[in-house]
Amino acid sequence: MARAVRFLACEAGIRQFLDGGAGLPAADNTHQVAQRAAPECRVVYADNDPFVLAHARGLLTSTEEGACAYVHADMREPRTILTAAAGTLDLAQPTAVLLLGVLGHVSDYAEARSIVSGLLNGLPPGSYLALADSVSSGPAHREAGHQYAQTGAVPYQLRGPAEIHGFFAGLEPVEPGVVPIAGWRPDPSPVPSAPVGTLGGVARKLALA
Ligand SMILES: C[S@@+](CC[C@H](N)C(=O)[O-])C[C@H]1O[C@@H](n2cnc3c(N)ncnc32)[C@H](O)[C@@H]1O
Repeated sequence: MARAVRFLACEAGIRQFLDGGAGLPAADNTHQVAQRAAPECRVVYADNDPFVLAHARGLLTSTEEGACAYVHADMREPRTILTAAAGTLDLAQPTAVLLLGVLGHVSDYAEARSIVSGLLNGLPPGSYLALADSVSSGPAHREAGHQYAQTGAVPYQLRGPAEIHGFFAGLEPVEPGVVPIAGWRPDPSPVPSAPVGTLGGVARKLALA
């Protein structure tokens, strides 16, 4: 997440972020990484988990120059998310949509694709998608996913690499493309290793997309 957000803020000049499936506050949340690069960045977090809602205050520690908001909503309703986000973001301006470790919660691939297109369709050319998701790397991985689902947790759909690439269809890929995330523009200093079997990338919405 941090490397993608740093790229978007520092190199792509993005100042607005929509972080879908934000999760619980962590040490370095999207707004903190973005606002370190550019304090005026505006960030909207969205999640549908009441537990995340209960801890959302930890996601709302914006700089004075920027803004942060939390939207309690379901990604399956991208229009609702965009309408709520418009209270904080100017959706006529390029915006980065972050979907990191989220779309596996949407088991139907067509529906997951429609979430991506529904969000990007509401944003202008020059907006970005940063997406990462787990891929199925073999029978052991699939079995782990199966056992995870049996714990009562919301099942997480492991997808094939072609499906992860498919989320970026029609967008202009940012180098190095969709790759195992540990290899996506790695920091020069050693970092904790990323989850094995997670593919991700960043891509830009084109004028005629
Ligand atoms: C694995 S966590 C990822 C959190 C964060 N993006 C990260 O990379 O660390 C997935 C998050 O997606 C949220 N989520 C799952 N399905 C969702 C949906 N339909 N709408 C909104 N959020 C959802 C979950 O509540 C959870 O907080």
